[in-house]
Amino acid sequence: MEKNYKRTLVTCALPYANGPVHIGHLAGVYVPADIYVRYLRMRGKEVLYVCGSDEHGVPITIKARAQGVSPQDIVDKYNRIIKDSFSGLGINFDVYSRTTSKVHHDIASGFFKKLYDEGKFITRESEQFYDDEAKTFLADRYIVGTCPKCGNPNAYGDQCEKCGSTLSPEELIDPRSALSGSAPRKVKTKHWYLPLDKYEPWLRDWILENHKEWKTNVYGQCKSWLDGHLQPRAVSRDLDWGIPVPVEGAEGKVLYVWFDAPIGYISNSKELLPNSWEKWWKDSDTRLVHFIGKDNIVFHCIVFPSMLKAHGDYVLPDNVPANEFLNLEGDKISTSRNWAVWLQDYLQDFPGQEDVLRYVLCANAPETKDNDFTWKDFQQRNNSELVAIFGNFVNRAVVLTQKWFGGKVPGDLKPEAIDRETLSQIPVCRANLEKYLETFHFREALKEAMNMARIGNKYISDTEPWAVAKTDLDRAASILHTCLQICADLAIAFEPFLPFSAEKLRDILRVGIEAGKDFRRGDADGFGDTENCYGPMDGRARHTESCGELRDPMYRLILKWDDLGSESLLPAGHELGEPALLFSKIDDSVVDAQVAKLNATKAANEAAAKAAAAKEVEPQKEEVTFDDFGRMDIRTATVLEAVKVPKTDKLLKLTIDIGIDRRVIVSGIAEYYSPDDMVGKQICILANLKPRTIKGIESQGMILMAKQGDGSMRFITPEEAVCNGAMVG
Ligand code: MF3
Ligand code: ZN
Repeated sequence: MEKNYKRTLVTCALPYANGPVHIGHLAGVYVPADIYVRYLRMRGKEVLYVCGSDEHGVPITIKARAQGVSPQDIVDKYNRIIKDSFSGLGINFDVYSRTTSKVHHDIASGFFKKLYDEGKFITRESEQFYDDEAKTFLADRYIVGTCPKCGNPNAYGDQCEKCGSTLSPEELIDPRSALSGSAPRKVKTKHWYLPLDKYEPWLRDWILENHKEWKTNVYGQCKSWLDGHLQPRAVSRDLDWGIPVPVEGAEGKVLYVWFDAPIGYISNSKELLPNSWEKWWKDSDTRLVHFIGKDNIVFHCIVFPSMLKAHGDYVLPDNVPANEFLNLEGDKISTSRNWAVWLQDYLQDFPGQEDVLRYVLCANAPETKDNDFTWKDFQQRNNSELVAIFGNFVNRAVVLTQKWFGGKVPGDLKPEAIDRETLSQIPVCRANLEKYLETFHFREALKEAMNMARIGNKYISDTEPWAVAKTDLDRAASILHTCLQICADLAIAFEPFLPFSAEKLRDILRVGIEAGKDFRRGDADGFGDTENCYGPMDGRARHTESCGELRDPMYRLILKWDDLGSESLLPAGHELGEPALLFSKIDDSVVDAQVAKLNATKAANEAAAKAAAAKEVEPQKEEVTFDDFGRMDIRTATVLEAVKVPKTDKLLKLTIDIGIDRRVIVSGIAEYYSPDDMVGKQICILANLKPRTIKGIESQGMILMAKQGDGSMRFITPEEAVCNGAMVG
């Protein structure tokens, strides 16, 4: 941070609103950003902390289609889930809005229009796959076919999920549309492109010369992109979900999601601060910092800065501290394979232990290389670090103070050299802590904070105040006096990392904290003039419902970051609150249950992969009307009798009770069910299928079966017994 900036604008990658947030997102982006923002605010810096959901793009339309709902339904659902789960982990952005908001729509359209009017784009015609039946262009994801590399019959036009290769739709063997199943044909289409090649010299200078301080993983990725030379990038797509391209002749085209999403940082700022957002985005005294994961580096270091440069009004990022990926139990985290620890599940399974996750994810943050999260390590770090060092130290100090000094901080009645020596180590830790936080080395920073707890824990073990008190109460007073100063240091130093526990500790010590100012709305749903909401936060003094008003602080003694390491944070005579445990042990059974959950996921994935490899999942059939469906007489029935049809392998003759009568159906399921398995089973049948004669037996209907990719079949059985003849529909 060479320049002396007046304010810091911190953004976090806008999560796609097509699934919940998992530990990989948290470790890579949100936990570090939250630590950073809390730290800057404690140091009295003015910080705006912006996030929101990324609600456009093809994956959202695919999810919506798969679930038979609209894309809006999907994004409404996940916007809420994600926002709530973030705040459950203590991550409270000043604004968490969305790219489907009106403000965003206007800003993003205006951004495009300005570049368009100023001739900053080029246009190109290209050939794109078009589905004649569905009458639409197909995004790469909507084209499926056989992978040229591994033969997977269900590879997507952008990627094969089986072998992991990146593909283009042209490479697929026998491409077909995921919408209609028909073979798509190439049709000409026109798009707008940002000619990144023209920005290359400027980017080289800006990044490679002037931002050598960026993290090596970020700098390195930028350098290799730039060395490989940049190509014009399309900023529009043929799609019906997104922000329409705001120029004539662009019907059916929307802004490419990676064009509109980063502009969301600007729109969300404007939504929160309608009157003062511009100073955050247009004044060169603003320091812009983007927290992202490594897959977003090119967009935040190359594409978005080029867009901002082309636009001309906005500040550029000063730093982009991107992280690598977090794996889970040795495997890549994957939303589609459900291989993840979801934040919302964690919050449910570990109530009151939010900080344990924050701690473990920071301690393991993939800052320079990919890292692995394991439940064993999670347990270990909780039990042998948080509980055994931090919690144990605080508890011993507070409980002994209760026991021998009536819960009041004793005076420094009989000091010895070791007290001074111990306390003198804290400012050293503090200096390191600050250095690491300011250079985005959060793991190292956390280690320094933890070192303070280690110092305290070692000191109390070495000096043994529990034994000393029996013979020399004055000396015990000095020891506990010293310990309690360190407890107060911990209550400051851990605030950015473990805000819930730091607050708990401050309640035990009966002190508040100067946590800085934020921009959160007092009224979560109000759209008033939120600029008024800017007010001090001192631990317990939060915004009330009406903007601008503040509650009285709960404690008279308010600690500040600058107090960290000073020798008398808690004066003699200061009364402590009730002792309480900061952390609790996590048993084997708890982590074993989490591992079992993951193992079940793995088994289900393997079964699904096998089925998919054996045969593709059928594409959707042609549309039918409600009336078409209504003509089917589908109802429940019970199997009364089952016998093999002589001289066949596959056929069973079933006698069934369908509520209105008893009848015979011949069904090809002998490979999957033996006659004995079937008697008494409740099933569903299509009753009004025209009778057919099979091997000389008249079959009066059809049994409904789920046929899997590998050809295996299972009955459709009611969840609970129902009467025979109940209509299905
Ligand atoms: N939604 C993207 C992702 O999850 C991140 C978008 S960041 C923004 O990878 F810059 F576009 F906002
Ligand atoms: Zn493949």
